[in-house]
Amino acid sequence: SLPPSDAFVFFGATGDLAFKKVFPALQAMIRHRHLECPIIGIARAGWSLERLQERARASLVEHGGGLDPAAFEKLLTLLRYVEGDYQERSTFDRLREQLGQAAHPLHYLAIPPSMFPTVIEHLGASGCAKNARVIVEKPFGRDLASAVRLSETIHTVFDESSVFRIDHYLGKEAVQNLVVFRFANTFLEPIWNRNYVESVQITMAESFGVQGRGSFYEEAGAIRDVVQNHLMQVVGYLAMEPPATTYHESIRDELVKVFRQIRPLGPDDLVRGQFKGYRNETGVSPDSEVETFAALSLVIDSWRWEGVPFYIRAGKCLPVSTTEVMVRLKRPPLARLALGDENHLRLRLTPELSIALGARVKKPGEAMVGEPTELTLIHHPSGDEMSDYERLLGEAMQGDATLFARQDAVEAAWAIVDPVLGQAAPLHPYEPGTWGPIEADQLIAATGDWAQPKASP
Ligand code: BG6
Repeated sequence: SLPPSDAFVFFGATGDLAFKKVFPALQAMIRHRHLECPIIGIARAGWSLERLQERARASLVEHGGGLDPAAFEKLLTLLRYVEGDYQERSTFDRLREQLGQAAHPLHYLAIPPSMFPTVIEHLGASGCAKNARVIVEKPFGRDLASAVRLSETIHTVFDESSVFRIDHYLGKEAVQNLVVFRFANTFLEPIWNRNYVESVQITMAESFGVQGRGSFYEEAGAIRDVVQNHLMQVVGYLAMEPPATTYHESIRDELVKVFRQIRPLGPDDLVRGQFKGYRNETGVSPDSEVETFAALSLVIDSWRWEGVPFYIRAGKCLPVSTTEVMVRLKRPPLARLALGDENHLRLRLTPELSIALGARVKKPGEAMVGEPTELTLIHHPSGDEMSDYERLLGEAMQGDATLFARQDAVEAAWAIVDPVLGQAAPLHPYEPGTWGPIEADQLIAATGDWAQPKASP
């Protein structure tokens, strides 16, 4: 891994991402990790340092869990502001001055990808990129070809080992726990394969719509927005082989292997839906064909998973907000006692972490019969754990790229969904507040039904 960074530069300092995620993460990093280096915000908004300080204050009140007076004071002493157009070299010369003695700056591009080429070129030409690293946010392209081009652009100045692509799902406590739970326990490995697992389902349900992001969403749709990245990473952690060593690239190596074993999707592997009312949202075309719901069936051609379907379902305006994994186990042979398919492991990833084992136990009373129950193994109510951005920005400052999407993994994940992007499959309308179009049930019918996650307790 790389040496720790000694300057934190963020482009788009007056923008939405900075407001919602970056300032709160910086306050937390100062509080928990004693962040102590120049923090340089850049924007072309005609702002002053004072105005940026006010913005930071408002961000912490609204999104940072409140202002921590000591940490905020510290943030104010570290914060600098560089004003200027990203097209102009002089902006980057001023940044170079602000960087002072910093030997390993970190540049966080919290700006739309269309601006990356200009900013990256100037970073290189001005000397700001020397021994530096760069953080970029999704979307990493909008299909395989544009993802390849995006990496080519970044690589003109930063080599891959200095590129940190944020997929914020990898920063979630519960997603990291998938790796620990799988590989730190003896009891799981013997059953975690085609011999015992019937099917795996991943549901990412959101009870809200596009929340004013209509024009962004029109360019994306559910597959680009959350399947190619967040949910594919979850599939990767569930399906991968144990990392070979503690070498820091091992986990990322295993992820790529899984992605390459997943067959590219065809139109029959996918059901697309759109909630009724989406077309009336601001920024959405009245005849939009963009999906707000997608259900997919994946085939993993691997020794471990041959014949075990992996299903993904993601949608807006569903009944609850949660991300859950349901691993259904095969039925034991004594059919008289084992009636249903309740043997399962339910892994809840958001909004809180919980793991439950679906089991059948004897029904109290005279008869020798069982009844289904769910044994909760762990349940961590959300709240005090580290936020995903605090963790990810902290790791990038430390120079550890394990939790970031590597170029080969991004491209392998695009290769899976590439054939079905756009209108490859028909679009079915669904009522808001339902589990999407009924066609999604047919997709999974061969192996049962969708497990409906419950609302949070
Ligand atoms: C984002 C998507 O990447 O992830 C959003 O653009 C989605 O559409 C969000 O709502 C979900 O992330 P989280 O952390 O809120 O579950």
